[in-house]
Amino acid sequence: MRITFFAAKSYDRDSFNRIKDRYPELELEYWETELSPKTASYVQDSEAICAFVSSDVGAKTIQVLHDRGVRLILMRCAGFNNVDLDEATRLGVRVMRVPGYSPEAVAEHAMALAMAVNRHLHKAYLKVRENNFSLQGLTGVNFYGKTAGIIGTGRIGAAMARICYGFGMKVIGYDTYHNPDLNFLEYVELDELLAKSDLISLHCPLMESTHHLINLDTISKMKDGVILVNTSRGGLVKTDDLIAGIREHKFFGVGLDVYEEETQNVYENREDDILMHSTTARLLSFPNVIVTSHQAFLTEEALSAISQVTLDNAMAYLKGEKAGTELN
Ligand code: NAI
Repeated sequence: MRITFFAAKSYDRDSFNRIKDRYPELELEYWETELSPKTASYVQDSEAICAFVSSDVGAKTIQVLHDRGVRLILMRCAGFNNVDLDEATRLGVRVMRVPGYSPEAVAEHAMALAMAVNRHLHKAYLKVRENNFSLQGLTGVNFYGKTAGIIGTGRIGAAMARICYGFGMKVIGYDTYHNPDLNFLEYVELDELLAKSDLISLHCPLMESTHHLINLDTISKMKDGVILVNTSRGGLVKTDDLIAGIREHKFFGVGLDVYEEETQNVYENREDDILMHSTTARLLSFPNVIVTSHQAFLTEEALSAISQVTLDNAMAYLKGEKAGTELN
């Protein structure tokens, strides 16, 4: 079976090519172009395609893919808010994903963002390079003894909670489901988490109920001087309200790996272009904001887990087996 990869970057090709000999039944075809209704129409002789969080896997794209003979969509990521599952199911197109390929990869990046904004590493790096060894403006706070609020305590949230606990923080969490493995974490209501946390880290999925979870109202309930980190999905935060909060000096710092305007435009040429999206560019203008380019997943371990599970998913489809990673 041939699988056409969309938005394939060099690191994708490397990690999939490293293991492809173990899957002689599969032929991998890598396209740099991003998936959209238009590019879907170029697919030929592929029963499967492989897409990413940045891909447009909406109804129109799925219809075009179906017309081109595609019956399997392999998401090489955990999130699937960009996939129209109803349309895929209606057309009999199976969708599979890679849940929890390396929660630690994302959680460690979330903590890296929190620490970087806290200790002003982005400023310190530039200052020292310019031979300025002054400590002016670089004062941070101890995380030790402070309260970390984890919103969404699934795989990644749990990994982040463990890291925060390891730092000597009191860890509180908000989730519709209580994770029994986190006996050091106290579950509280969202308002209490907002009011008590010195560090708030978002790890719930983007759904209708979580869209714009961080808005003027929830920001107003946070402690002054809070650090906010979002490595989950941009749509969890209402960017204009976040900017208003930053302007009012609500935040000690903000670390974002994902942004509301994250569309395929953001990802086009991401290997060599500087991102200059309007509201993201506004966020970048604040000295206490660090933005990374949806890279939290990007570790060797995560890439290798993603490639293995994705190709195992393809094999399960070929053999008509259940993989436990199917979305429909
Ligand atoms: P998970 O499914 O293991 O955990 C999500 C948790 O959120 C669950 O415990 C669920 O009960 C909870 N939740 C659902 N609705 C909620 C609500 N309204 N309020 C609070 N909690 C709620 O998912 P996992 O693997 O931990 O991933 C979390 C998110 O991280 C993904 O949905 C994805 O958007 C994002 N992600 C980001 C990556 C990056 O590179 N930046 C990479 C991988 C995932």
